[in-house]
Amino acid sequence: MSTEESVAAHYSRGNAEEQLLGIVRAAGGNPESFSPAELHGADQLHIGGAAATTRVAERVGINAGSRVIDLGSGLGGVARHVAHECGASVHGVELTPQFVDTARSITERTGLSGQVSFSQGSILALPFGDDTFDAALMVHVGMNIQDKDKVFAETARVLRPGGVLAVYDIMLLGGDIEQYPLPWAATPEISFV
Ligand SMILES: C[S@@+](CC[C@H](N)C(=O)[O-])C[C@H]1O[C@@H](n2cnc3c(N)ncnc32)[C@H](O)[C@@H]1O
Repeated sequence: MSTEESVAAHYSRGNAEEQLLGIVRAAGGNPESFSPAELHGADQLHIGGAAATTRVAERVGINAGSRVIDLGSGLGGVARHVAHECGASVHGVELTPQFVDTARSITERTGLSGQVSFSQGSILALPFGDDTFDAALMVHVGMNIQDKDKVFAETARVLRPGGVLAVYDIMLLGGDIEQYPLPWAATPEISFV
């Protein structure tokens, strides 16, 4: 199994879509049509949830005209949040097929499909031409990426000159990780913090 296959297998557990729709149902909402806020950040797989995404978007200066790429978009929560809060157009690239299916379904149900789209694949090879985006977000993904130089080179290629990349990741400032499992890796083979 390649590293990318092992990463995708790690995240392909449980039925994320049913869990998200269950949150909407439990609060008396309509699972066929609801606001992203009704998920209360359960679709954002990072420390700080929706509030952290708002802070990142503000620091980057994302606005209604922005074209944004979300690197490792997971269940699509970051992409929908930025589209909903800032009015931006967002494309998410995500490795785990099950997450891409869920991201598309939830985006459709939240009425954001005109602004938010997804493709399945690795951020090590982005399916876009040069200078396509104004901003790139990478939120809690680098911990699964061994070849960070390649991701940054690819991101620089698809960003327009002067475009901004924001990285919000867990990073080691010294020492080593001594205990597994962790949320992004059950074993050290797929952890590159
Ligand atoms: C902890 S989740 C964060 C998801 C999302 N950024 C968020 O904050 O909600 C990490 C995600 O990175 C994705 N990922 C890991 N390596 C990847 C790669 N090489 N290309 C694309 N996605 C990747 C995983 O499949 C997973 O969905």
